[in-house]
Amino acid sequence: MKVTVVGAGAVGASCAEYIAIKNFASEVVLLDIKEGYAEGKAMDLMQTASLNGFDTRIVGSTNDYSKTAGSDICVITSGIPRKPGMTREELIGINAGIVKTVSSNLVQHSPDTIIIVVSNPMDTMTYLVHKTTDLPKSRIIGMGGALDSARFKYRLAEALEAPISDVDGMVIGGHSDTGMVPLTRMATRNSVPVSEFISDERLEQVKEDTKVGGATLTKLLGTSAWYAPGAAVSGLVQAIACDQKKIYPCSTLLEGEYGLNDLCIGVPVVLGRNGIEKIVELELNDAEKAHMKNSAEGVTKTNGLLNL
Ligand SMILES: NC(=O)c1ccc[n+]([C@@H]2O[C@H](COP(=O)([O-])OP(=O)(O)OC[C@H]3O[C@@H](n4cnc5c(N)ncnc54)[C@H](O)[C@@H]3O)[C@@H](O)[C@H]2O)c1
Repeated sequence: MKVTVVGAGAVGASCAEYIAIKNFASEVVLLDIKEGYAEGKAMDLMQTASLNGFDTRIVGSTNDYSKTAGSDICVITSGIPRKPGMTREELIGINAGIVKTVSSNLVQHSPDTIIIVVSNPMDTMTYLVHKTTDLPKSRIIGMGGALDSARFKYRLAEALEAPISDVDGMVIGGHSDTGMVPLTRMATRNSVPVSEFISDERLEQVKEDTKVGGATLTKLLGTSAWYAPGAAVSGLVQAIACDQKKIYPCSTLLEGEYGLNDLCIGVPVVLGRNGIEKIVELELNDAEKAHMKNSAEGVTKTNGLLNL
């Protein structure tokens, strides 16, 4: 199993580290445009191998795509992250050009690969990869919902004063502060609806804290977060590499599902060796449907900035 991660910055390096530590891939190629940067990160990570007990070989590359040839999975994290006060949508001008070039280069060297898009605005960048490459829709996956759901579970556990392993919940919709749809109605603590334990007001607070999860960290860190994004990507990569058939909310091209068309947005999918093997259609109530529709309108508006 060969995995390429483009962008050896905060998220890319963290993602490569988690993949290596989980020890399921034979090779991870880290590629960056900055001279020597990916080689340096790869060497540093390789020097953790004997300490962390993994055999995955991590190779660095300065923009040499021949090293990525034959990758089963490619992750795109290249591009600028947001600074405090910025929205993800504001990154489109620079990141669209980067994602377009990177995705064509990747497919040229790995025509049967599965691409996981991380660069923001992620739903629009995922849509752009569809427009740039000939890959089937099952092989183009946007990572946002896996991270947003992890943040949701963190906030739920905090409100419930429960261990995170007891908590389950999912965030669908667009990967933006206003687009996220945390499914509080379906969230559970060990199979019991969380509404049995906390008030509607507290649950509303959990929802709002989840939606601004990324912005909260950007304000604290001065740039966007990397540990949880890296871990979320590695989860998706592992589900595909190990054919786990796990359900994650991912951004995928919708063709009528959830009443939506011609956009990529977060919905639950089954991930296995072939990428997205099934889109799971949940029975949403009227409020959730309205929130999803509103979220889709936001994503479509951002897609309109692509000048396709
Ligand atoms: N989808 C999500 O859930 C999620 C979460 C966190 C961050 N992000 C996004 O991921 C992206 C990366 O964030 P980061 O914190 O790692 O940023 P970063 O600045 O630390 O790293 C980005 C890297 O991309 C490289 N790069 C730029 N242009 C390139 C090109 N053409 N080819 C190869 N490499 C190139 C840069 O040299 C840099 O090393 C941002 O767009 C950020 O908003 C998404």
